[in-house]
Amino acid sequence: MVRKTYQRIARLYDLLDLPFERRRYQPLRPIMFKGLSGTILDAGVGTGRNMPFYPGGARVFGIDLSPAMLLRARRRRAQVGAAVGLAEMDVLHCGFADRQFDGIVATFLFCVLDERQQLPALKELARICRPDGEIRLLEYSYSAAPMKRFIMRLWAPWVRWAYGAAFDRDTHRYVAEAGLEMVENRFLFEDIIRLIVVRPAARGAA
Ligand SMILES: C[S@@+](CC[C@H](N)C(=O)[O-])C[C@H]1O[C@@H](n2cnc3c(N)ncnc32)[C@H](O)[C@@H]1O
Repeated sequence: MVRKTYQRIARLYDLLDLPFERRRYQPLRPIMFKGLSGTILDAGVGTGRNMPFYPGGARVFGIDLSPAMLLRARRRRAQVGAAVGLAEMDVLHCGFADRQFDGIVATFLFCVLDERQQLPALKELARICRPDGEIRLLEYSYSAAPMKRFIMRLWAPWVRWAYGAAFDRDTHRYVAEAGLEMVENRFLFEDIIRLIVVRPAARGAA
């Protein structure tokens, strides 16, 4: 279903997102990769909007469910000269080995995964994250301000239809059950775009 949605929207994705990309997302993307090194996964890479911010010298992989989005990501890879391996893969069933990644970044992926996929997706990322690694998520949530919330509610059916996304995912609720622990949970843009940083829970136990 989501795959179909992104196959349909891929052609227009960058254009439709452009105003948000410029005003909201672009300043946040470098924060997602700051301090990361080694082997990094960009989960739900989309059209490759994060590519200009990949840390130099890192070994980066980008995965996505949609071949049409990946086609655009390949074009962007050539444009920006990013060193990134791209593959069609479902974040719920990654083909990666256990504990493979030092850093995992997912920008606006969990708002696309439905509620029952939140826990399995977090568990899968926990599996492929090194014990001393970090998982960073950038996600939307409803504003607490009544007017902003009202506008977001008006906008929600379009967002659902066009992107298969929702503003009310409770990703942070599943962190402990996925074997992860919260490192950071704070807003980066007003009270609607949230950074969630988690890491494998057993850190330091060995
Ligand atoms: C809202 S877009 C975000 C794209 C990009 N991360 C960005 O920041 O612009 C969500 C992306 O996640 C991908 N996606 C959705 N479900 C997925 C899944 N189960 N596994 C991998 N990718 C998925 C979609 O195809 C889409 O490209």
